[in-house]
Amino acid sequence: MWFIGWKGPSGFSASSTAQQVTHGIDGTSLTAIITEASSGLGLETTRILAFRGVHVVMAVRNVKNCIDIKESILKEIPAAKIDVFELDLSSLASVRKFAADFNSSGLPLNILINNAGLMATPFMLSQDNIELQFATNHLGHFLLTNLLLETMKKTVRECNQEGRIVIVSSEAHRFAYSEGIRFDKINNESEYSSYFAYGQSKLANILHANELSRRLKEERSANNC
Ligand SMILES: NC(=O)c1ccc[n+]([C@@H]2O[C@H](COP(=O)([O-])OP(=O)(O)OC[C@H]3O[C@@H](n4cnc5c(N)ncnc54)[C@H](OP(=O)(O)O)[C@@H]3O)[C@@H](O)[C@H]2O)c1
Repeated sequence: MWFIGWKGPSGFSASSTAQQVTHGIDGTSLTAIITEASSGLGLETTRILAFRGVHVVMAVRNVKNCIDIKESILKEIPAAKIDVFELDLSSLASVRKFAADFNSSGLPLNILINNAGLMATPFMLSQDNIELQFATNHLGHFLLTNLLLETMKKTVRECNQEGRIVIVSSEAHRFAYSEGIRFDKINNESEYSSYFAYGQSKLANILHANELSRRLKEERSANNC
């Protein structure tokens, strides 16, 4: 694409690799969760964070398949610290179980990367009877973030180091339904558009990130006063 070599304020461009972007970073004191870390962007993020010494928790639907992926990363990076936990974001019960398992594991949490995403699927309902893209891409991650927030805050206090929550959205957030998010028509199959529904879920990701960031900044200012 024409803008592939264009560099942003960070000095990196769309063609920069994860290895280049993280050059010189020592992540050995950090723990990160990556949702659906077994393919695509999640897998490469897992590989590079593990390469930089971060303890990575791969949160995935298919644990058996992910154990093989973990083994192949360990062949390449023998010192990698990787755990695999089961998480199906289209089930709120699975999100609750994952968070309970993680929170009781005693692990710290410095970085949460909400990466998993379904794109432009035919109309389907989640296990909780909510349109599948909205349920998986937004609601599952929204609940997950809320349930892990106390552990992240505790880690920040203990490590005296800011945490990071990354909510992966898409340019497609610009192509939601004309009203934006159809809160009253999430499950309306007759007016369903697979692409607008994807855009709607990615718009929800951005709004979630903006509002969470606003609330956390407000909380920090209140605590510093
Ligand atoms: N690739 C792009 O060009 C692009 C552009 C803009 C934004 N994004 C965003 O970047 C993120 C990653 O995209 P990608 O292209 O790397 O994705 P991908 O390769 O298609 O992988 C998506 C992953 O989501 C997982 N997933 C689906 N349903 C799930 C569920 N219920 N619970 C847990 N995981 C589930 C899939 O797991 P299974 O393996 O179990 O099916 C799959 O591994 C997404 O949020 C996407 O919207 C991607």
